[in-house]
Amino acid sequence: MAQIVLKQIEKSFKQDKVIEGLNLTIENGSFTVLVGPSGCGKSTTLRMIAGLEKESGGEIWIGDHCVNDVEPGKRNVAMVFQNYALYPMMTVKENIEFGLVNRKVPKPERERLIKEITEIVGLAEYLNKKPQALSGGQRQRVALARAMVKNPAVFLMDEPLSNLDAKLRHQMRTELIQLHKRLGATFVFVTHDQVEAMSMGDRIVIMNKGRIQQADSPMKIYDDPDNVFTAQFIGTPPMNVMNREQLLPYMDGQLHGDIAHIGFRPEKAIMTIEKKFQPGYVQFPARILTRETLGAEIIYQLETKLGAIAVKSFLKPLEFASEVHISVSMQDLYFFDRNGTRARQHERTEERELIALGGGYA
Ligand SMILES: Nc1ncnc2c1ncn2[C@@H]1O[C@H](COP(=O)(O)OP(=O)(O)OP(=O)(O)O)[C@@H](O)[C@H]1O
Ligand SMILES: [Mg+2]
Repeated sequence: MAQIVLKQIEKSFKQDKVIEGLNLTIENGSFTVLVGPSGCGKSTTLRMIAGLEKESGGEIWIGDHCVNDVEPGKRNVAMVFQNYALYPMMTVKENIEFGLVNRKVPKPERERLIKEITEIVGLAEYLNKKPQALSGGQRQRVALARAMVKNPAVFLMDEPLSNLDAKLRHQMRTELIQLHKRLGATFVFVTHDQVEAMSMGDRIVIMNKGRIQQADSPMKIYDDPDNVFTAQFIGTPPMNVMNREQLLPYMDGQLHGDIAHIGFRPEKAIMTIEKKFQPGYVQFPARILTRETLGAEIIYQLETKLGAIAVKSFLKPLEFASEVHISVSMQDLYFFDRNGTRARQHERTEERELIALGGGYA
């Protein structure tokens, strides 16, 4: 059992508070991704779990033990770093074997482990090469293999794929997902790439400025974001969010409560050349600035009186039009208060219907 619990974790570097009141439960066997902009505290959080950085306050539990005073080597975790941290003078085999020798694992057992694990990560042919003779992806596999021979309950990975080119990164993502299934260990994976987070994590923890903004499954965060930050962090292009005042003329109705911002996902907008009246929709004119044809879908950047917006469409491109009309169902709107916190209570259907009654079109 290796559930990880962070209780009221604080971390300061001298006067600088970089983590504040962080509470998080990472379930045993989960693939949890910590994601957020540069400097938000992802690596620091991971390093505190590993014991490489000392928390300034709070408790860290791994399984049944509070590990605050347990040294890194005794926490039953293995860390994989972005820069691989391999020993350049040692061969692949020696790099993987090093920790085992240190722990006085007998030679036959070492040989068996190395054989088994290098086959899993596809390194069997490279055992006698030095790291400098390997590609980035192969070096990453050595780093993984080195973590795997420890058979830890928890794998901590800090942007392990970010030095790889796009294609290899994609391949390694799939391999890591399979590896996670196969090992059944707890994976905590740090990235600043939201696509990577979405595609790998069964649970995503979105951080900003040392605080957790939301921790949920990828689809839950996508469909039901807690605030403007998470709404715009997950999804490409990000959710369109506009000020209440900008959208209000096109709603021609009442907005209840303390709503300051209103958002909708780019794929929820319907783009037409003709202006159509549809009850229950917000509608406004727009001008197409650019089209990005990605194959199955097209992303439009548009200019409107409400500001710049993006629309994602799976339909045939509106080739020659530049002046279009955008409609968004009231059901697809997200409301946020002045602080950017989701105002779910104002998204209730009857209120939407009330608003939609005006349904107007300025
Ligand atoms: N050893 C240190 N001494 C002083 N400040 C530090 C130290 N390590 C990290 N910080 C600061 O703590 C904050 C969080 O850093 P951290 O490395 O955890 O961010 P991150 O989310 O991993 O960012 P990135 O995506 O760029 O790797 C940053 O403001 C950083 O400058
Ligand atoms: Mg980092």
